[in-house]
Amino acid sequence: MSQPIVETKGLELRFPLPTHFLSREKPVLHALNGVDVAIRPGESFCVVGESGCGKTTLGRAIMGLLTPSAGEIDFEGRRIDTMGEAERKPIRAEMQMVFQNPYASLNPRRNVFETLAEPIRHLMPEKSSREVRAQVEAVLDATGCDQSWQRRLPHEFSGGQRQRIAIARALVTNPAFIVADEPISALDVSIQAQILNLLNDLQAERGLTYLFITHDLSVVEHFGTRVAVMYLGRIMELAEAETIFRAPKHPYTQLLLDAIPKLEGGSFDNPRKPGELPDPVNPPPGCPFAPRCHMAEAICRQDRPELRQVSDGTLAACHFAE
Ligand SMILES: Nc1ncnc2c1ncn2[C@@H]1O[C@H](COP(=O)(O)OP(=O)(O)O)[C@@H](O)[C@H]1O
Ligand SMILES: [Mg+2]
Repeated sequence: MSQPIVETKGLELRFPLPTHFLSREKPVLHALNGVDVAIRPGESFCVVGESGCGKTTLGRAIMGLLTPSAGEIDFEGRRIDTMGEAERKPIRAEMQMVFQNPYASLNPRRNVFETLAEPIRHLMPEKSSREVRAQVEAVLDATGCDQSWQRRLPHEFSGGQRQRIAIARALVTNPAFIVADEPISALDVSIQAQILNLLNDLQAERGLTYLFITHDLSVVEHFGTRVAVMYLGRIMELAEAETIFRAPKHPYTQLLLDAIPKLEGGSFDNPRKPGELPDPVNPPPGCPFAPRCHMAEAICRQDRPELRQVSDGTLAACHFAE
């Protein structure tokens, strides 16, 4: 098997929370609790799970926007999370991110040309202004943006057009790896498919690798190669996308799948989910999903199940996955 393009090993990330003025306790939120993923070149590796399970934190940690509390992150076999900024700079050009909200992710005072030229100037300072211009024009064509957009400001565009511009910005330095954090969930349903198709086409043309983050499992069916299901900062199940839909092993994955037909244009972040996410500041001692699990027995509330192989190609963290 080829070397992973991106790999995390035992990744942990904790957010210290403000201390209550009457308390001596220093509360800590455990956003990632030992995440191991090995993303293969050319795949669309999907991370799914309800809001608050740590998906964005994982994406931002891989991008170097958050500092892990423990563990390791590698890019093409080199450890990147401990690199200094100068050493990391050429790698930043190789790894880019598309954010969920194209209204917040574009600088409102910067026109499209400046938005797209900035990452080249910053990460590839050796490029001449003629090369910068050529790269901007090429990426506008590749992402279905009109050249006439160059002098216009973000507020002049629709949500779908803004997300195209954000995708263009992510691609302008010719990265190999893209973190796409819920790239369609802030968009009108009518244009979600266009943006997904654009991401698919770009992947085919450029051999991109995606870490695709979504709370919506139904998107994964058409987009993903493999899927990691996260819950409270842990991977609960990891398998080929096709296998997850055909033969889910973890009761939490089952719950997510059961929620799909009830969506009606919404998402399973909405009312019908049975039970609530436990408090990530004081997680339960055993399996984090046990309080909501219809299969849970005494052992589940005491011993946390490790992620282990439970069938051909499927890893699951459940005492009863078989
Ligand atoms: N900067 C922060 N400070 C404190 N807590 C945070 C911060 N960012 C995220 N969190 C918490 O970390 C957990 C995971 O958040 P996040 O990664 O955004 O989840 P997701 O993207 O899956 O919705 C949540 O409990 C969230 O409230
Ligand atoms: Mg998120």
